[in-house]
Formats: sequence, C-alpha cells, structure tokens
Amino acid sequence: MRPETAVAIHLEDYAPAAYQIDTVDLDIQLSPRSTDVFARLAVRRHEDTDPGAPLELDGDELELVGLTLDGMPLLEDAYSATPSKLVLNAPPAEPFTLEIRTRIDPDSNTELMGLYRSSGTYCTQCEAEGFRRITYFLDRPDILSVYTTRIEARKGDAPILLGNGNPVSAGDVPGTDRHFAVWHDPHPKPSYLFAMVAGDLAHVADTFVTTSGRKVDLKIYVEHGREDRCAWAMDSLKRSMKWDEDVFGCEYDLDVFNIVAVSDFNMGAMENKGLNIFNDKYVLADPETATDQDYANIEAVIAHEYFHNWTGNRITCRDWFQLCLKEGLTVFRDQEFSSDMRSRAVKRIADVRLLKSHQFPEDAGPLAHPVRPRKYTEINNFYTATVYEKGAEVVRMLKTLLGPDGFRKGMDLYLERHDGDATTIEAFLVCFSEATATDLGQFARWYDQAGTPQVDVKSRYDKRAGELTLDISQSIAPLPGQASSEPAVIPLRFGLVGRNGEDMSFERVTGARLQEDVLILEEQSQSVTFTGLKSRPVVSLLRGFSAPVRLEDHQDADDLLFQARQDSDDFNRWQAIQTLATHDLIRLAGEARTGKELKADARLVEAFGETLLNEELDPAFRALALQLPSEADLARDIGSNVDPDAIHQARAVLRAAIGSENAGAFRAALGAKPQGSFSPDADAAGKRALANQALAYYAASGASDVDDLVMAAFVDADNMTDRIAALTLLVHDNLKDAEQALEIFRKRHEATSLAMDKWFMVQATAPLADGLEKVKALTAHPLFDFANPNRVRSLVHAFATGNATQFARQDGLGFEFVAGNVLVIDQRNAQVASRLLTCFRSWRAYEEGRSKLAETALLKISSAEGLSRDTRDIVDRCLQ
Ligand code: PHE
Ligand code: ZN
Repeated sequence: MRPETAVAIHLEDYAPAAYQIDTVDLDIQLSPRSTDVFARLAVRRHEDTDPGAPLELDGDELELVGLTLDGMPLLEDAYSATPSKLVLNAPPAEPFTLEIRTRIDPDSNTELMGLYRSSGTYCTQCEAEGFRRITYFLDRPDILSVYTTRIEARKGDAPILLGNGNPVSAGDVPGTDRHFAVWHDPHPKPSYLFAMVAGDLAHVADTFVTTSGRKVDLKIYVEHGREDRCAWAMDSLKRSMKWDEDVFGCEYDLDVFNIVAVSDFNMGAMENKGLNIFNDKYVLADPETATDQDYANIEAVIAHEYFHNWTGNRITCRDWFQLCLKEGLTVFRDQEFSSDMRSRAVKRIADVRLLKSHQFPEDAGPLAHPVRPRKYTEINNFYTATVYEKGAEVVRMLKTLLGPDGFRKGMDLYLERHDGDATTIEAFLVCFSEATATDLGQFARWYDQAGTPQVDVKSRYDKRAGELTLDISQSIAPLPGQASSEPAVIPLRFGLVGRNGEDMSFERVTGARLQEDVLILEEQSQSVTFTGLKSRPVVSLLRGFSAPVRLEDHQDADDLLFQARQDSDDFNRWQAIQTLATHDLIRLAGEARTGKELKADARLVEAFGETLLNEELDPAFRALALQLPSEADLARDIGSNVDPDAIHQARAVLRAAIGSENAGAFRAALGAKPQGSFSPDADAAGKRALANQALAYYAASGASDVDDLVMAAFVDADNMTDRIAALTLLVHDNLKDAEQALEIFRKRHEATSLAMDKWFMVQATAPLADGLEKVKALTAHPLFDFANPNRVRSLVHAFATGNATQFARQDGLGFEFVAGNVLVIDQRNAQVASRLLTCFRSWRAYEEGRSKLAETALLKISSAEGLSRDTRDIVDRCLQ
C-alpha cells in the first residue's frame, strides 16, 4: 500500500468490471510466517467486454507463486505480475478457470488488513480493500461470487477453523499434525465480506429459531478464560435477531452465526457473512471490568453488525462511494434498536451529542465531504462520522418525511427489489419515492452536499392579530471544493408551547408545508405564519433533533428557562438547558481572555440544581442534562480564534458554581445508587450515571471532605462504572489520593487489557499542567504497545481528542508529540495513524499562535518521506 501513489478515484468514472467471477474456491494453508493461498476463480467475460480484453486483478504486497488457466501454466508473455497487480493480457473469450497461488506472511502484517495474527489467532479483515492482500482479485464490491473455503492449519496451533457460510466438512490431514475444515457460503457476496479465523479459542453457544422455523446455532469465540464475559453480547445478539424480524421483517439466512472477538483490530467490528469479527472491546463485559457505557456500546455494535446481514450483505454497495447505503442505514437501524431496548429520549440525546461532537466539526473543516463523496484517494479515510452518523440522520429524516408506514413500505420494496444486488443511493431513494408516490429529488441533496446547514429563525408575534411569524433562512458556509450550495429539505418538528406547558393549537399555517407537527422547509428563506393564537407561545423548534442542522433561533434566556422546565419534548428540554449553559460558557471564556473575574450566571446555576432535584425526570435524563457541554463542544460553537485554556477555565468556574451552590443536594444524591446485585439495564445505569454526576459536582464544590469522599467512592465501588467515575475525579481534579488510586486500579486490573485501556485513558485526558509529560512517560510503560490499536487509542488518541489544553499547549509540545506519534505509527499501521491525524482537522479554528504551531506540526508530517497513502491524504486535505 505504501508509499503514496495517490490517484483520485471519481464517482462519475464508475464502470462495471470487464469480467465477472462467479465462484471462488480457496484453499488456505496456514503457517505463521508463510501461508499458501490457492484460489480457483471461475471467470466470465462481461457481455459488453470485447473478447481478448485484458483482465486486471488487484493485489497488495502479494507474491505470486503459481498461475494456471484451465489447468495449463501460462506463458511468460501472457501475463504480468507485480505485488499490486496481476494482468492477463488476452484471456479467452469463453468462461475459464484461473488458479492463482500466492504466499503471504501473516505474522509480519502489522497493518491488520488482509490475513494477520492477533494474540496467535489467525484472522482476516477485508473491508474495504484487504482481500487483495490475500490473493489477486477483482477486489471491488460489485463483483459478487459464491465462496467455498478450505482452511488448513496445525491442529495444536489452531483447533478451531472458521469460515463464511455453513460448515461442510472437516478432518485430519493424514500423516501430518494438520487438520482442515471446509466452509461454503451459498449467498453470493463481494470480496470485502470474506473472512476466516483459525486459532485456539473457547466459545459460548446458544440457539435462535427464526420466524419461519430455521434453527440457527449461535457461537461467540474468545480467548480461553474469557467465556464468562460473553453473556451480554449473546443476549444482545438474540434480541437483535428478534427485533429485525419484528421491525423490518428481516430473517437470518444461514445455519450458523459466529462472532469472534480479537484484541488487535483497527475498527469496531466487521460484518463478514456469517462470521462477524469484533474488536473484543465490543464483546467482552462483566460488571468488574466494563462500564454501563461499554454495555450499551456492545448492545449497539452487536446489533449493527447483525443488521448488516440484510443492509450491507444481502444488499451491498455498487462502489465505495455508496458506503452510506449500508452504513448510514445500518446505524439508523441500530439506533432504533437501542431506542426500543432503552429510553428513546435518552438514546436520542446521546446520539445527537455524538453527532455534534464528531460529525459537526468534521463537516465544518477541511475534511468535510458529502454523505456520499464524489472523490477519494484512500477509501479507508471515508469511514467517517459523516458517512455513518450523518448518513443515519438522513435516513431518519426520510422516515420523518414519509411517516412510519411510508418508510416501512419503501424499506420493504428496497429489500425485495434489491436482494442480491450491489446497488446505489439512487436506487435506494427510488424505492421510497415509488412506494409513497413522493418526489425525493430535492431531498437527495442531503447525500451530495457537504457542510451542516445553518437554520436561522427570527420570530415575531402580533398580539392584536393573534399571529406568529417565523422568518426562516438556511445556508451552508463555503467549504474547500464547495463554494455554494442549494437549499435542502429540512423537516422541522416543532410545538408552540403555551404558558401551562401544553402545546397550543392554531388555526392555519402559511408559508411552509405542514405535516402533523413537522414544518417542511424547502426554500433558502421563507416566512411561516401561524394564525389564531390566543397568546404568545414559546416556540420549540427542531424537536427530537429532526434534522442535522445548526439552529439559531434567537431565544432569550427567559424562553430557554421556560423550555427547560416545561417543554413536552424531552429532547428540547435537554437542548434548552444546554443552550443556556453554552451561552454562559462562551461569555465566560471570552471574559477569561480579558483577565476579568469570572462569575457564572445565577439563574443557570439554579436551573442545574432544579434539574437534579426534579424527581419527575428519569435519572438517566437528569444525568445527561447535568452534563456541561464539553470543551470540544464549546470550541466548535465558538468556531474561530479558539483559546482552549479560556474554555477550560470557563467550564471550571461554572462547574464550581453549580457544585457549591447546590452542594447539599449533590451530597444527598450520592446515595441514590441502584439496590441489589449489578444489572446493566437502562434504569440501573441511569441511577449510577446520576449519582456519579452528583459526585463530580460535589467534588467541584470545594467542600473540605471532597478528597476523602471521592477516595471512599473509589475504594467502595463494586463495579467498573462507579470505580472509573471516581478514579477520573481523583486524577482529573488532582485530589490527594490520585496516585494511590491509580496504583490500586493497576494492581487490580493489570491482567485485563480492556480495563487497563481505561487506566491509560484517564491519565491521557487529565487536564493537568504536566499532563503531556505524564502521557509521554506512559508511552514507555511496559503495558503500552504501539502494535495494539486499542492501546494507542486509549493513550495517544485520547490525549489528542480529550485533552484540549495539553494537546494545544502554547509551547507547541502537545502538537509535536502527537505528530511524532503519527509518523511512528504510520510505519506499521496506516489506518491507525491517519485516523489519529484527523485530530488536527480544526487547526485553523485556533487563535493565531496555536494555529501556527499546529501548522508547523502538520508541515512536519507532510514533509516526511515514505508516508502511507492514508496519512498523505489526510495531511494534504488538512493543509489545503
Ligand atoms: N463495516 C464495519 C462496520 O461498520 C466497519 C469496518 C470498516 C470495519 C472497515 C473494518 C474495516 O460495521
Ligand atoms: Zn457498519
């Protein structure tokens, strides 16, 4: 893959491949340093291809050892082979069989793409372009083939041999210490869904019976000794299978469904047909080592990968520009699943927080791209928050616009019409358009325009006439490569809230289409008038965050406080208090830079106390409402001339004010933990979240017993959620026993890698004056390992994204440290390196001094030799 031979690939250049491969028979003879792969491909000329046109197969760092065509060796001038290409100059016009023999070295595969080993287990990762690291192939998602895989390995090394599809046969290889297994997958699939696993693994087993009576054997494979941490994942899987039948009518289609958890994985998990491979962080959980957040993530990721079986596998993407076809839709589906399993309002708030903290900054800076990009040089850099999270929002808007029944009709048509296809966003939209007789032409812009639309609303109330007018405009700020934009279709869910907190009725609305409680905005600017109002309402807009836009509705503090207390929409109650806090924090951050004495707004402080004590609200909701906007959130909202130290100070002042003004109440709330033995359910998790939020505010109160109280909470914790919450306070607030607590934690969890990731992360994100020096020292810790992506993310990545003041230090050393690490990591794993580098994406938003320093760090990377294509692409785009 390296070095950087970057050619831009354009959506408009798409053309079907010249040849099709109908079947793939693989024989993989595993050995750590030298694995032989025999691939027998049934190749057929595409009807539009001229006879004799060359067949060009992709490769990546491959060594060709043998090649035959219909059983005959090829003459030297009939083909050419390099590590990245195999070309047959003039293949037969009629279907033929190609046999390719390659040799690969799993142990030296540090990119974790293709076939590699993780803690001794052989495993594969083929999305997006990893299959070409195993054999030469038409490695593109529109080539659908039926795969049969024979895997052979030493019995002692790898008693377990797994492939896609159903098991066919297995046995010993006579006269050797080896054995084999054959797997057959009857469903044609693209090469990126190929997988195999071989290793010495333990498993837990269960079964699921589908609606039409198919009995499916479910297994989760893990390293020995980890079996008792699989129960939650298995439970989540069974609930996902049932939910997909009930809600989307999607049934499973093989006799087995296997999940394998590995420790070294670039991403979260992978939906390979019948053989999902997971980062073990999204499988393993018990109360001792996993937090409530981990449990929720596992439930969501297990569901996500399972749901891909239909949205991704049965129906796949024609080309990689269509990535959101499977990812946006599948994220939407997993979000809906979690909403049905938990509190819908709380899930929505959590999802929107993630969208705003990850996707909005991406969409506002040099890495912005449409949900469906039109151009890429390295596809691995497009597994982004925009494709995933904004992609999910677009599907959600489709559902809002078409209604639940219309949406289901469109989905049914899509699943039926395109089953077995590699297809496009256009084809997806046509299904909804046809099923509901709706024109989605303008809606399609959501897939093609980058940037977050800014919606500006000014409201006027005419008391005598009883009329409310909203002057609404929408626009997208110019972006690199997108100077202007066209108006989008924006579904704006709303309510006109009366004094009693109930939504008021009105006679008529003019100036926009109204669909139940949704205004449909379609113009660059429009005036919407409501008539027949008895008094001035408080206008509650964008309820449930009905569109991924930035709303500026110019609400004053009185109306926001009213909304925070009275809005019938939970999301907007949360949003109102967040907006109030954001306004005050931005004011404080501005004043911090002038050296003024900082004083938080008293009414805001009071509102936080009220939220804590409001027993009518679900504890999980209260915990979220009490959480202040993060430093990164504030930097994003400030947008330019950002000073992270001022933001940090502002937050500290508000936090201390809320803590000290309501200290008694927070102290009293500490005891409100769930009773009885640990359960990860949403109710119990919500209670823990609220109690831990109370502990954090109490810690900020400055009361004399804070050090002891937080240390006691740490020592007494009987689950990871509470333990890590207390440890975070000890370390981040630099409390008396911080070092001792870190030692206790380390001794207790040393053998559990996922728990130790948390230990690294707590320290990486500590906003202390010598935070950077501590992080540097930790890179030399015996448990730190550049080869393990989770560990790198928990230290270096966590530092870069979660420690704003130290990353953006005024001496430039934070930037320099991260840039240096990008270069080191890039030598072994391009994907992990380029992802780490994206933490520089908002560099131009810093105040001048820091932005210069960030530029220096980026230029250093840019001038380094032998950069991977991945890192080259990100650094170039950041600097553009
Ligand atoms: N397709 C995976 C998912 O979203 C993500 C992934 C992409 C994993 C690329 C590995 C490599 O579920
Ligand atoms: Zn996915």
